[in-house]
Amino acid sequence: MFTLAILLATLASAYALPAFTHSFSIPKIIGRNEWNPSSSFTHGDLQNRAESDSAGSNSLPPIYTQCTTPDTVALTFDDGPYDFMYNISDTLTANGAKGTFFVNGYNYQCIYSDENIKRLRYVVAQGHQIASHTWSHPHLENLKDDQVREELSKIDEAILRITGLKSSFLRPPFGSYTESARSIAASRGQALVIWSYDSGDSKPNARSPSSVREQRGVYDSYVNGKKTGGIFLNHEVYDTTARELVPYAVAKLKAAGYKMVTLAECLGLNAYQGEPIPVPPSKDATWKC
Ligand SMILES: *[C@@H]1O[C@H](CO)[C@@H](O)[C@H](O)[C@H]1NC(C)=O
Repeated sequence: MFTLAILLATLASAYALPAFTHSFSIPKIIGRNEWNPSSSFTHGDLQNRAESDSAGSNSLPPIYTQCTTPDTVALTFDDGPYDFMYNISDTLTANGAKGTFFVNGYNYQCIYSDENIKRLRYVVAQGHQIASHTWSHPHLENLKDDQVREELSKIDEAILRITGLKSSFLRPPFGSYTESARSIAASRGQALVIWSYDSGDSKPNARSPSSVREQRGVYDSYVNGKKTGGIFLNHEVYDTTARELVPYAVAKLKAAGYKMVTLAECLGLNAYQGEPIPVPPSKDATWKC
C-alpha cells in the first residue's frame, strides 16, 4: 500500500510538472485561414505549430517556422537555382555560415541546365542544404491533389537526380498550402517549412536603395532585439540580395554571435531521407523541363 502511494505520488509529480510548465508555453497559433504571407506572419515571433498539430487527430509533421537549436538562425533562399547561387553560397561559406536553398524545377530557370546542375552540386558540396520549393512555384491551394503530387514529385526527382539527395523539407510557394497538400508532402516524407522573418527582398521595387535599407533593417531589428530562432526568407534571384543584403545580414548576425546553420541543423532534424544515391556525371535526354 505504502509503495503504491509513493508510486502514485511520483507519477503524479512526474506528469503534473511538465503539464503545468507546458500551459505557460502554449504558442500563439495563427490559423491557416488567417495566414497572410505579406503581413502578420512575416515579422512575428511565431513558434512552431508542433503542439497544436500533434494535439490533433492527424499525425502530420509540424509546420516549422522557428529554429529550435539554441543560438542558431537559418538563412533561406527561395526560387532558384539562378545566377546568384554561387555568389550567395560563397558569401555564406566565407563567413563560416550555412544556408538553405529552396529550389524550383522550372521557375526563373530550368533546374536541368548544365549550369544549374553544377550550381546545385556546388552548394551541396559547400555544406549548404537543398530543399523543395515545388516544380513550378504554384499556389498549392489552386491545385487538385494529383497536380500537387506532380509538383512535388517532379522537383524531388530533379533534386535526387542532380544531387543524389531526397529532401525532407518542402517550402510551399507563397507560404500557402492546404491540409491536403500538407498530407501529400507528409506521405512523401516531407515537412512544411514557412519562415519567421521575411527580409522583404521580393516586394515590388525591392531592388531600390530604400527597400534594400528596409531589408537590412529586418536583420538589424532581429539582432538589436536579441531575438531567437529566426528562419529568414530571402530570394536567390535578385542581384541586390546577393550583393547588398546577404553580405550585410551575414556580417550582422555573425558579429552578434548567432550561428547561421542549415534549416535541418536549426531544427535538429535530417535534411534528407535515407542515404545519398550515386549521381551520374552527366545528364541524359530525360532531364528536361
Ligand atoms: C558577389 O558579387 C559581388 C558583385 O559582383 C561581388 O562584389 C562579391 O564579391 C561577390 N561575393 C562573393 C562571395 O563572390
